[in-house]
Amino acid sequence: MDERANHGVDLHLELSRGGGLRAGLEGALRAAVREGRLTPGTRLPSSRTLAKDLGIARNTVADAYGQLVAEGWLTARQGSGTRVAGRACPEPPVPASTLVDASLHAAEHGLSETATLAQRRQYDLRPGSPDLSSFPRSAWLAAARQALNRAPNEAFGYTDPRGRPELREALAGYLSRARGVRAHPDLMVVCTGFVQAVGLLGRALAAGSGAPPSGRGTSRGGRRIAVEALGFPDTRTVLRRAGLTTYELPVDADGARVDALGDTDAVLLTPSHQYPTGVPLSPARRGEVVAWARRTGGVVVEDDYDGEFRYDRQPVGALQGLDPSAVVYAGTASKSLVPGLRLAWLALPARLLEPVVAEKRLADHHSPVLDQLTLAELITSGAYDRHVRRMRLHYRRRRDRLVAALAEHVPHVRVSGIAAGLHAVVELPPGSPSEAELVARAARLDLALAGKSYYGTVDAAGPALVIGYGSPPEHAFTGALERLCAVLAG
Ligand SMILES: Cc1ncc(COP(=O)(O)O)c(C=O)c1O
Repeated sequence: MDERANHGVDLHLELSRGGGLRAGLEGALRAAVREGRLTPGTRLPSSRTLAKDLGIARNTVADAYGQLVAEGWLTARQGSGTRVAGRACPEPPVPASTLVDASLHAAEHGLSETATLAQRRQYDLRPGSPDLSSFPRSAWLAAARQALNRAPNEAFGYTDPRGRPELREALAGYLSRARGVRAHPDLMVVCTGFVQAVGLLGRALAAGSGAPPSGRGTSRGGRRIAVEALGFPDTRTVLRRAGLTTYELPVDADGARVDALGDTDAVLLTPSHQYPTGVPLSPARRGEVVAWARRTGGVVVEDDYDGEFRYDRQPVGALQGLDPSAVVYAGTASKSLVPGLRLAWLALPARLLEPVVAEKRLADHHSPVLDQLTLAELITSGAYDRHVRRMRLHYRRRRDRLVAALAEHVPHVRVSGIAAGLHAVVELPPGSPSEAELVARAARLDLALAGKSYYGTVDAAGPALVIGYGSPPEHAFTGALERLCAVLAG
């Protein structure tokens, strides 16, 4: 039997020539550890297996291991074999360019990358993240176990680019029940986060898919998409990289000014809860934008990023319900569960299905299957609804605490956008320090804050802070609120 196939790690070693086999093996192992190819804790093959692999005597390997143990490169313990020693080599410095998570955090939270790298604050009230400490670990684990037990073998192979049918069916049922989406599983595409979803759509639209028969856009030399003047910055960048020209719709107390939609092929909106101002698109404007789409053949993209969380009245139903042939619905698990899942979904008009699926296939064939099956199980078992209800209560209490603390300690500031979502807008009265000054003041108290201007052109409501009350873990929330009030009180 080939032991290598069954025991320990595969090990690629280049034995140096000359100086004898044992010295050559020692040199090769030292080099592998030094260069980081063998990391601390890695279990090496038994001397018998490695000897067989290399075609040398077992004693030669045992002697080489013994020498490297004596030198501190390896450790050998009865029962746990020979391993690379914990601190056998100094950690190479990590180049700043590989700190990808930090730069994503920066983009989301309104700070320059360098600023964020320097800013790991103890308290964080920037928007964009749910309370990660509330992830339903046991429910997820139970759903994952169930999903794995039930999954047919074919689920582990290349599968439909739209995603697993189990999840598309579960989502279609959930979205129509909870969000008023008119979704058919066949017209749904599971994506790796909304960021991917918007990229796929952007490329499909830039290529002319979903465009009216007149071929609008081509005469102008490029297809255009209107975006809200305040919004999630990455989205605009992704759309431009996809080849679309973006232009901005002003935002006011009724949401995006869809009356300003000019000659455009598409529009991207956050109708349930404008990001970041927090206002819903007014009923009149909802009707207006759907009428525009019907009249012109244009496409409306609805980013329903936190539609599950509305506190004081019934959730605002999805715009897509008004006309599924004109509106693309996009949802995500990033707020209802956690962003780390990277799970989002599109409910598409039939004319956009094929081009979007083609883009998805080219992007990554399909999203990872096991988490899709787990989410499907979570939804069909009712655990997803229970989690969302629990979190709605949790965030509502936090919002109430935020509003109460501000009313008590800094009654001169106005809070808006509080009816839904995981963030609120604290409007700065005339004469207040600038957004940047308040962000800097907060940093001195170890609190991270984001100013509204990061999200785009500041509207008539003027400067403000966008306060994400969802993200702090419970133990840090009181401290974060105290610091926020201290910053605003000056
Ligand atoms: C407006 C908006 N849309 C969508 C998303 C979600 O993106 P993703 O699903 O890629 O995490 C976010 C994330 O913060 C957001 O702020």
